[in-house]
Amino acid sequence: MGTYVVTGAASGMGKAVSARLTDDGHRVIGVDIAGADVTADLSTGDGRADAIRQLLDRIDGPLDGAVVAAGMGPKRGRERVLVEVNVLGATEVLTALRPRLAAASNAKVVVFGSNSTTSTPLVPRGAIRKLTGGDAEGAARILRRRGSLSGPASYAASKIAVARWARRQAVQDDWAGSGIRMNVIAPGPVMTPLLRSQLASSTASQVRSFPMPIREFGTPEQLAEWVMTMLSPAADFMVGSVVTVDGGTEALLRPAAWPTRLPVRLLPRMAWIMYQAPKKGRVADYSDC
Ligand code: NAI
Repeated sequence: MGTYVVTGAASGMGKAVSARLTDDGHRVIGVDIAGADVTADLSTGDGRADAIRQLLDRIDGPLDGAVVAAGMGPKRGRERVLVEVNVLGATEVLTALRPRLAAASNAKVVVFGSNSTTSTPLVPRGAIRKLTGGDAEGAARILRRRGSLSGPASYAASKIAVARWARRQAVQDDWAGSGIRMNVIAPGPVMTPLLRSQLASSTASQVRSFPMPIREFGTPEQLAEWVMTMLSPAADFMVGSVVTVDGGTEALLRPAAWPTRLPVRLLPRMAWIMYQAPKKGRVADYSDC
């Protein structure tokens, strides 16, 4: 049986994933601000360093997988804390765990994104750029200027940044090339304490009228089932994918946004990759087919 790290393990979808893994006989090392094996505050550099120290102490061999579910929902006035948890709480922890994941030779990583990435208007590009560079305060400064929209904008910016980080890293030699399969799950509204607190806030009517063809919220158990598939051998051929599980919002709002044609401006990049790959011995051998 395997060893898995789950952040956000004390509540909602992280808790549901931990329960499924434990039921299947795996060892789960849960991380959360309270009520977990590793208690640490992922919103500060010191807290993340503490979480990493505790995790590396507890993982006594290869790590079979990691699920990064710790996150904060949209909240005006908490822009800095939100982006720290949602972005750096994922990227710093996963970067530190990477060697242990590589040691397992067939490890899986699931990062929690969100369908807010593709359904939230007025997300400032500058904030995403700052977050991509790890500058949480710079991003928060830009996001605060969005005024009453700063909550949803911060949330979407953080999830765009973390999903892009995951996709960029996932294909690299030290991730995919080391046997690690990292992918992103992008849920729509799921009935967890995070969503409940939004339904109890001044934004409740917007949340309730969120466009969703199936007209019901998801459950943590449904999402945990998808995560289990993304942790299973079914994901051996899956790298850098964003799996949207959202009751149809994405397709309703943007039916033609994806799939998109490869833009001509990316041809030089593609040519460069195709030229470099054989030199690095990365071309698959189909000679037996
Ligand atoms: P939740 O609120 O039930 O669980 C999130 C967990 O993260 C909590 O246990 C919380 O203590 C932990 N956490 C928050 N701040 C932390 C900090 N500073 N340090 C350590 N742990 C911290 O939320 P839920 O809904 O289960 O969310 C899981 C993930 O899914 C999050 O990343 C969220 O952004 C994402 N998501 C949730 C959706 C929803 O509708 N519930 C929709 C799309 C994405």
